[in-house]
Amino acid sequence: MDSRKIAIIGGGNMGVALAKGIIQTKWANPSRIMIAEPLKEKIDQLKGIAEGVRVSHSNIEAAEFADVIVLSIKPQIMLRVVGEIKPALKDTKLLISVAAGITTTQMEEQAGGKLPVVRAMPNIAAVVKEAATAICPGRYASDQDVGMSRHIFESVGIVVEVEEYLMDAVTGLSGTGPMYVFQILEGLSDAGVKAGLSRHTANILAVQTLIGSSKLIQETKEHPAKLKDLVTSPGGTAISALHSLEKNGLKALLIDAVEVAAKRSGELGTNHKT
Ligand SMILES: NC(=O)c1ccc[n+]([C@@H]2O[C@H](COP(=O)([O-])OP(=O)(O)OC[C@H]3O[C@@H](n4cnc5c(N)ncnc54)[C@H](OP(=O)(O)O)[C@@H]3O)[C@@H](O)[C@H]2O)c1
Repeated sequence: MDSRKIAIIGGGNMGVALAKGIIQTKWANPSRIMIAEPLKEKIDQLKGIAEGVRVSHSNIEAAEFADVIVLSIKPQIMLRVVGEIKPALKDTKLLISVAAGITTTQMEEQAGGKLPVVRAMPNIAAVVKEAATAICPGRYASDQDVGMSRHIFESVGIVVEVEEYLMDAVTGLSGTGPMYVFQILEGLSDAGVKAGLSRHTANILAVQTLIGSSKLIQETKEHPAKLKDLVTSPGGTAISALHSLEKNGLKALLIDAVEVAAKRSGELGTNHKT
């Protein structure tokens, strides 16, 4: 299997989820992973991820160590950090960014040379290995680089490849998506409580309903509208509830939310420190 060493710069939510995912695959030994994190207090916690995993508070040390560098830091500081590690970058190294908005061209220009760059947009379900990630290559990334990026993100869920102009749409839909689902689940749980269920029971029922319905779509590969028809019996409860959702514009609300998040993703690419 691939023997390249991997650095994860930024030991936050996404960086830790990726490190754990990669380590649990058969192809990456912990000693081939280094996490760079500026906060010294976090170092011990990061060392606890797995025996043998390397942790540093120096981004440049991590970049020198690795063949593949995953940048899991906020978009606003992404290009500044690429500039910081530039002395350690060679065209043989692969740079992967998970930041919203920052383009592969911006990364390539900041790194200089002909560095292979892959842009990825995972989501927080990476923590439980159920992320939906989209990836796209920059102009110098090879098929092997895309394959390596796939391996990394498949360790925390599923991966699709898209063209770069669609990455802001991905950020609006699946990158930001868990937040929509949390809001919907909170609403359903509140509704259950209002109808007299305990919070505990309402949560369990709401979450399992979402998991089960999603699995049904995933396994049958049916369009959601077709499954909606399956559950709306004439004069039944579901068609009455559907009428209420339509009156209140649930689908329009979701479309607006994804649209505004995608727009914000694009803005993040122009609003950063170098
Ligand atoms: N979380 C999500 O749902 C999600 C989904 C998709 C994509 N992403 C992307 O993933 C990236 C990271 O997000 P996150 O949620 O993991 O954020 P986070 O939890 O805040 O993690 C960022 C980490 O980077 C560290 N850091 C700050 N400045 C640094 C520097 N100069 N060099 C190295 N590390 C530095 C932070 O350390 P301190 O704590 O000490 O500041 C923190 O541990 C972002 O670009 C985001 O767009 C996140």
